[in-house]
Parts: sequence; structure tokens; C-alpha cells
Amino acid sequence: MNSYIKDIAYYVPEQILTNDDLSKLMDTSDEWIKTRTGISQRYTVGNTNLGPSDLAVNASNKLLNKLKFDKSDIDFVVFATSTPDYYVPGSGSIFQEKMGLDNIGVLDIRQGCAGFIYALSVADKFIKSEVYKNILVIGAEVQTTQLDFDDEGRGTAVLFGDGAAACLLSATSKEKGILSTHLHSDGRFIKELGTEYPSSKYKDIITTEDVKNRKHHIQMNGREVFKHAVRRFPEVIIEGLEFNNLKLDDVNLVIPHQANYRITQAVQKKLGISDDKVFSNIHKYGNTTAASVGIALTEALEQNKINKNDYVVLVAFGAGFYWGSVIIKW
Ligand code: ACO
Repeated sequence: MNSYIKDIAYYVPEQILTNDDLSKLMDTSDEWIKTRTGISQRYTVGNTNLGPSDLAVNASNKLLNKLKFDKSDIDFVVFATSTPDYYVPGSGSIFQEKMGLDNIGVLDIRQGCAGFIYALSVADKFIKSEVYKNILVIGAEVQTTQLDFDDEGRGTAVLFGDGAAACLLSATSKEKGILSTHLHSDGRFIKELGTEYPSSKYKDIITTEDVKNRKHHIQMNGREVFKHAVRRFPEVIIEGLEFNNLKLDDVNLVIPHQANYRITQAVQKKLGISDDKVFSNIHKYGNTTAASVGIALTEALEQNKINKNDYVVLVAFGAGFYWGSVIIKW
């Protein structure tokens, strides 16, 4: 049995936050952000109190309506987010309740920007081992409520946006779909990117002092992240291709996690791939973490950039560091 992407959809909240909007909140500029990251705008939940589970419900309903797929035929859900609605339980069960998906199993994935790749990989294995036939794979993120929209936070606040993607991974006996997934992690770099508080390690979880010191906002060593991303993206793409006896020339489209356009360009240059073979939409959405690969894949399909029998590479790297690739024959 093989697994294939039956279809995919995305949802972003209505409110747009442009670079000019950000420059009214902090010492930054449209020019700085565009030059350093490629981002022009991102979407935000603003004051709507919507969590990743809500964005995921909207993306999933779009998907199910598009496919005319009965939700009672969904066997399992894998839900990836790094910004969960609650501390406990995971967003997966919150999403399940909102979708009315009674009693099926739900798994939460917390692998940051690589979340969608990890989620697809787990779902693929459940299908290949013939446990399930139809798995809903979600990547959903609400980043903007936890960003530090102040001068101190400008190094990270300009990067991220909110959004969700929902994908139906289904079983097929045809020779198509996910050919392989390769997953990696290196916990030596946890300090380079992440949000440490609130933390169960500390008696008060988070103190007023910690909040004053902005410990509940994401912290990032941008240069270190850049360096490792530019190494790991190409490495895991090649690993996946070699596993399948494929060459870069065989690949029709690479859909990388939309971390930063400069990272994408550096990876592309390192591998020597032409512009038309690498998908980018970061200018519109910013970095939507676990949702980014799914949103990009949806748009690539909408723009007819993927045809039957094409080889498509999905690849991501992020906090952890976690990274991975998925090689697909469409
Ligand atoms: N606006 C204006 N100036 C800024 C901003 C901002 N938003 N942020 C930082 N600066 C300033 C800094 O304060 C610094 O000023 P100084 O020289 O007076 O000290 C100057 O710009 C340069 O700062 P650097 O951090 O050295 O800037 P750099 O050129 O490295 O760019 C960036 C920062 C874009 C974050 C870069 O390091 C990068 O691309 N890193 C990759 C990280 C990334 O993209 N992460 C995404 C999330 S992780 C993932 O998805 C994989």
C-alpha cells in the first residue's frame, strides 16, 4: 500500500499586517524586512481569540468541501503546531471536538517548522502499514499573539505569521504518492531558537520578572539558524533523492519551508536549482512555521505547478533543530 496526497487546502485569518504596519510598532522598515527576509506582509488573528485549532477547522472544512469527502471516513488525525491553543491538552483534541470527529485517534506533533514534514511522515507510515486509509494531516500556527512587537523583539517579530493547512493523505495501491520521508533532529541547538516560558521546570511556571524580561517571547540566534538551515536543507533533500535513486534533475518542484527567502536562495544556489523549480510565497505569509509547507503546496497546485508523475520535494528545518524531507511522485 502507498500513501498519496488526495488534496490539500489552507486558511489564513482575514487581517493583514504589512511591514509598514510593523514599522509603526517598532524600529524597523519595509526595506529592512524585505531585503533581509523577502517578507512583505503576513496574516494575523489580531484580537479575534482564534487559536491554531480554529484556523485548522477552517482549512479542513475547505478541504472536505472541495473533495466532497465525508468526515466520518477520516480514520486518524495528525496535528502539527508549535503554538498550541492550550498548555494541555494538545490542539489535536481541541480541533477534534470542534470538527466533530468522534473517537478517532489524534496525535499532536511539536516539531516547529518541521512539524508538517514529521506529521506527513507519521501518517505515511500508518497508511503503508495498513492501519489506516485516510488521515487528516494538519499544520496550524498562531504566531502573532506570542511575538514581541517592540523594539527588543524586532529580530523575530517581523518573521512570523498565522495560518493553517489541512491535507488528506489516503491509501492507494498505485505506484505513486509518498516515496520516502527522512527525519532528523539535533538537540544540541535548542537554545538557538525557541520559547522557554512558561515552563513546567519552574515552580511558578512563569514569574512577573520573567515576563518583564520577555522570556515568554520567542528567542532566536538568527545567524546560527541561518547557517544550520543552509546546511541541512540541501543535505536532507539529497538524502531523500539518493534513497530513491533520483537526481536533482529529476525533480520538478522543491517546496521548502518558507523560513526566509534568503535561506531559500542560499539553498537553491548550493544545489544549483533554477528559480522555476523552487516554490516561494513567503512575501505574502511570512513564516507560518508548521503551516508553511502545506500552504505553499496548496498554492503550487492552484498555480498548476505540479503535474501527474512529477517528482516533488517537501523539505523543512526549524527549532530543535528538527529537519526532514518528503519525496513524492505526484
Ligand atoms: N528591523 C531593523 N533592524 C533590525 C531588525 C528589524 N526587524 N532586526 C534586527 N535588526 C538590526 C539589528 O539590531 C542589528 O543592528 P546593529 O548592527 O545596530 O546591532 C542589525 O539589524 C543586524 O542584525 P542581525 O541580526 O545581524 O541581522 P542579520 O543580517 O543577521 O539578519 C535575520 C537577521 C534576518 C534574522 C537573519 O539572521 C536570518 O535570516 N536568520 C535566519 C533565521 C530565520 O530566518 N529564522 C526564521 C525562523 S526559523 C526557521 O523557520 C528555520
